[in-house]
Amino acid sequence: MIPSDFIDELLAKTDIVDIIDAYVPLKKSGANYMACCPFHKEKTPSFSVSPSKQFYHCFSCGAHGSALGFVMEHQGLSFVEAVQFLADRTGMTVPQVKGKSENPEVRARRKQQQQTLEETTAAAAAFYQQKLAQDARAAAYLQQRGLSADIIERYGLGYAPDDWQALAGAITPYPNTALMDSGMIIEKEGRHYDRFRDRVMFPIRNPRGQVIGFGGRVLDKGEPKYLNSPETPLFDKGRNLYGLYEGREAIRSAARILVVEGYMDVVALAQFGIGYAVASLGTATTAEHIKLLMRQTDAVYFCFDGDKAGRKAAWRALENALPLLKDDKALHFLFLPAEHDPDSYIRAYGAAAFEDALLHQSQPLSAYFWQALSEPLDLSTQEGKAELIKTSSGLLAQIQAPALAYLLRQELSRLVGIDEHNLARLLGQEAPARRQPSAQNYRLPKETFRQPEMSTLVQKQIRALLINPQWALYTDLPDYLNLDGDLACLACLAERIQASVVPLSSGAVLELMRDSGHQHTVTRLFQEAMRAPEEHPAGSEEDRQAFQDGMRMINVRLMQQQIQALMSRHRQGGLSDEEKTLLTRLLHSQHTPDAH
Ligand code: UTP
Ligand code: MN
Repeated sequence: MIPSDFIDELLAKTDIVDIIDAYVPLKKSGANYMACCPFHKEKTPSFSVSPSKQFYHCFSCGAHGSALGFVMEHQGLSFVEAVQFLADRTGMTVPQVKGKSENPEVRARRKQQQQTLEETTAAAAAFYQQKLAQDARAAAYLQQRGLSADIIERYGLGYAPDDWQALAGAITPYPNTALMDSGMIIEKEGRHYDRFRDRVMFPIRNPRGQVIGFGGRVLDKGEPKYLNSPETPLFDKGRNLYGLYEGREAIRSAARILVVEGYMDVVALAQFGIGYAVASLGTATTAEHIKLLMRQTDAVYFCFDGDKAGRKAAWRALENALPLLKDDKALHFLFLPAEHDPDSYIRAYGAAAFEDALLHQSQPLSAYFWQALSEPLDLSTQEGKAELIKTSSGLLAQIQAPALAYLLRQELSRLVGIDEHNLARLLGQEAPARRQPSAQNYRLPKETFRQPEMSTLVQKQIRALLINPQWALYTDLPDYLNLDGDLACLACLAERIQASVVPLSSGAVLELMRDSGHQHTVTRLFQEAMRAPEEHPAGSEEDRQAFQDGMRMINVRLMQQQIQALMSRHRQGGLSDEEKTLLTRLLHSQHTPDAH
């Protein structure tokens, strides 16, 4: 965990306008900056960046967030990567996770090494590209595979000459440590030579566009068909996907991402106008891949060859995905006829047919899940049903997405003909025991949180606080109450802002709420506030007064309801000593408001 203090400070030192302007040229418009939204297609600008509040917001598609959020969404980086990215820009050092503290010198040396390796792979990629242009045989091979000059250029394809030390012509001294460490050369009995010789080269880029490794294909027949860079300090196969950098725009505009098995598949699909395909790098789809994929977009499609290996690869992907599934992300699986891979399929049937198959013949994860598990079983027998419960229970237990988990259990119940209650017992998940309320964590009746006036007021206060974080000072919700719904969100928001040591911008507050469990509410209310800017308080003295009055009203309302709830329980003789003390205190403070 990166301490939230650090994030606060990082955002205080970062200017969102600088960050966004580097990717999306911004035009000043009044107090804000505007541009066409990079997250959806549009002709008139509705993407606005506020320098004073340090957030961005698109009035058209609702995308919004802090500088950190922008880097994550736009560059497809993880939270930690985005933090590192901003920290590098501002010259701050990200505090290291538990124990593994890295001193600045080590870090500087590591960064230096990283940079040297990146320069080496970049030089090699440029060299291979240049060689492709000069080698008629390699160029003819790619032409015969049907690749256009345009696509060859976009994916930076190249050719490694048939020469033991070709790279010596591009990188000196040869050999050197960076060539070794980046896996470009191999040492054997004191002699050094190029890893890739007489191969078509596919440079693999990280999400920032730097070449981190290569895949090389033989031109004719030969073993291995594809040779890949080894894992290096630069190249982590489990965390990178081929084609992700090249496909970013297409992924965003199609709002989906497609995972295929091969380099050639990615490139061929792009040639046919399907630019949103990526491939794992000669490895299975890892959990890190799944996270990376789900960060890009909400719809992830896997297209595997129809053969046995393809089915196995698909199942591995599904297994790794289960613990990471979210109810708002959809995963689909498409299996092509056994004789095809995406490359051959799209060449045979065209892009329209491929996309049609992808959208209409792919199976959602849930369907594929049951189909794959039931396939080897005979569900008309007791044994088959018992086996299905056995094989699925461990997998179902891994799913954290509540709606999906529920629906899959329901489906199991249907498949085996055991009602859900009994099935839950069989699966070993009896309903969790209720917690006993205590005076310290005293619960109000549910209705309290559902009263419309109360809910409108609470939401208004949240919106005001998101826009004017400095007002957290005036919030003071009772801490012995077990708050629920929007009220819990308001309390959490206020508490987190108050805990910060530096003054927070709105953007920083959005960041603060990222893992709060209230992100959904915050997102919705922030968007509402943005949609009706004339309604949200601009921060005047009068607005602040209204906010304070609102808080007072909420507290009074809460107090009245607590008194009522406690009294009615008292009449039934159900109050603990602590609750009695609480009731006395509340009754007392009712006459001296402002001091509950
Ligand atoms: P395939 O053998 O299916 O090749 O390997 P392909 O993508 O259809 O390639 P073409 O059409 O014959 O050129 C799929 C992927 O598996 C990895 C590579 O990542 C390849 O893209 N692979 C395959 C290797 O890493 N090494 C190999 O020897 C073969
Ligand atoms: Mn192929």
